[in-house]
Amino acid sequence: MINFHKDHATLVNVALMGFVLLSTGVAVAPSLSMQDNNGPLPDMPKMTVQERRGMNVYVAEGCIACHTQQVRNLEMDKTWGSRPSIPSDYYYSKQRPDIWHNTPSLLGSERTGPDLTNVGVRKGSVAWQMMHLYDPRMVEKASIMPRYGWLFKEVDSTAVKPDDVVLSVPAEKLERPGRVVVATERAKDLVAYMLSLKQAPLPEGVAPEAFIASPGADGKRSAATAESGAAVDGAAIFSSVCSACHQPDGKGLPGAFPPLAGADLVNEKDPLKMVDIVLGGYDALPNYGAMPSQASLLNDEEIAAVINYVRSNFGNDAPPTDAETVKTQRAVIAPETVQ
Ligand code: HEC
Ligand code: HEC
Repeated sequence: MINFHKDHATLVNVALMGFVLLSTGVAVAPSLSMQDNNGPLPDMPKMTVQERRGMNVYVAEGCIACHTQQVRNLEMDKTWGSRPSIPSDYYYSKQRPDIWHNTPSLLGSERTGPDLTNVGVRKGSVAWQMMHLYDPRMVEKASIMPRYGWLFKEVDSTAVKPDDVVLSVPAEKLERPGRVVVATERAKDLVAYMLSLKQAPLPEGVAPEAFIASPGADGKRSAATAESGAAVDGAAIFSSVCSACHQPDGKGLPGAFPPLAGADLVNEKDPLKMVDIVLGGYDALPNYGAMPSQASLLNDEEIAAVINYVRSNFGNDAPPTDAETVKTQRAVIAPETVQ
């Protein structure tokens, strides 16, 4: 018979075993099984060293105070990604920076600003990201996001090095005239991280979890109405997608985003070139950066609707295109996005 009052060594050993068993059961085993069952998705690019530095800037600057990185399986989160987030999405970001630091929690709980899970697809332009960090109100007039001016520096235009990222900042915003604004390394890292935030596709044959429909006003689920897609509104798509760069008045921003108002290409009789640009992105104009492809963001109906909106507004006047044309072009220009 064991007597714990007399046999202290056994007492300690039993307590120790209890501790080890309990820790294994409730902490070690679950985390090992989490790790084993949530490897990276096959088409998920590895996080680069620069992106990881950028992630650390993101943490250090406290961006998480206003931004989440989690698409919940609720219908209202559909705007933030094409599918609900899964543990594998965090495979690279959840790795500990070093033994002394915990994994930074990037999930966030506040949505003062948009969820950033898929922001590399929505705002996949270095120029836009840079200007937005330097002063959000330069690209989004009513933004309440603070400016991160300390991630940039003003230098004499003669001091610009070839690999510097120069922002096209209007003269009246400069502290001293005649100088230019360049991005610091921290800004470059942060923007590289922002652009890397894209939902990776699930492996072939794996269906994403469905979004749970929100109850409609009559208490019934509104999935049917959401799925059948009420009339696609070109104006709404313009203001949620294109206007961030081309601006709500379609006039663009000098040196960064070209005007669509009165643009020759927009007014061309044949809409095909414009369809191709929206599907495939564009980098042909001399004084502007690249436009990212919008193919994975918008479906055929939406692209046709927004193109028709642009071609018949802002003083433009050109014949419309249709979803069928976009569909045909998608198969050629962005085949990876064909559903
Ligand atoms: C005080 C809250 C707040 C903080 C802090 C904040 N943001 Fe924002 N952010 C917003 C709001 C509001 C918007 C939407 C308006 C806009 O686009 O500027 C936004 C928009 C964005 C967007 C565009 C998202 C989209 O879908 O269009 C990006 C990218 C972004 N923020 C990155 C950052 C980064 C990086 C940091 C940290 C350096 C940061 N934000 C810090 C509030 C914030
Ligand atoms: C992230 C910023 C961004 C977004 C979002 C964006 N564009 Fe662009 N767009 C650009 C840039 C930059 C260029 C110039 C590309 C170049 O240098 O060739 C451009 C060029 C164009 C052109 C060619 C203009 C010309 O005169 O040749 C068209 C047309 C166009 N965009 C339409 C759209 C439409 C429609 C949308 C929305 C579905 C859209 N863009 C969304 C940045 C953007």
